[in-house]
Amino acid sequence: MKFIELAKKRVSIRSYKPEPVSDEQLNEVLEAGRLAPTACNLQPFQFVVVRQKENLAALAAGYPAPWFAEAPVVIAVCTMPSKAWKRSRHDDRCLVDVDAAIAADHMTLAAADLGLGTCWVGAFDPKIVRKALGVPRTVEPVVLLTLGHPNEKGRPKIRQPLEKLVRHEKWK
Ligand SMILES: Cc1cc2nc3c(=O)[nH]c(=O)nc-3n(C[C@H](O)[C@H](O)[C@H](O)COP(=O)(O)O)c2cc1C
Repeated sequence: MKFIELAKKRVSIRSYKPEPVSDEQLNEVLEAGRLAPTACNLQPFQFVVVRQKENLAALAAGYPAPWFAEAPVVIAVCTMPSKAWKRSRHDDRCLVDVDAAIAADHMTLAAADLGLGTCWVGAFDPKIVRKALGVPRTVEPVVLLTLGHPNEKGRPKIRQPLEKLVRHEKWK
């Protein structure tokens, strides 16, 4: 599949079949995340794979949408900000969320390529999710990625047209 077709195919899926995701499929998705670029190649994250019912339920308490609890797998992209690259010569801006976002996006696209569905979840309650994952204080869960066999087509893609999105040479 051409990359542009895959980008069009990937949509957020908010309904999942009970069918499990195979280890092979899961590993391919995780491998895509592993291969993602990071600032200075520091790879300041870990992926926590949650598949056990009681652990999924504990996570779902932090994002109580019924569809979230249907997903057979959740991949939590957790960052270690102290290990991330900072633009220290200029403004000390930490780009750790960018690193996490690229890894998560690689995983959503790999899943779509396998015919699996994903949805990014950022609107979770961090207190509940941190406890469910058992992360230490130095670790920050940034993305919860649901993964499973889609039970819906997803919503149509609504995006700004290129004419509104792209500026040439300067902002003005
Ligand atoms: C950083 C980020 C956070 C998101 N958080 C949520 C969320 O908490 N709940 C949800 O249902 N969708 C969430 N989404 C999914 C977006 O709503 C979705 O990607 C967007 O509407 C575009 O739709 P599409 O993914 O089907 O192309 C999030 C997406 C991103 C990139």
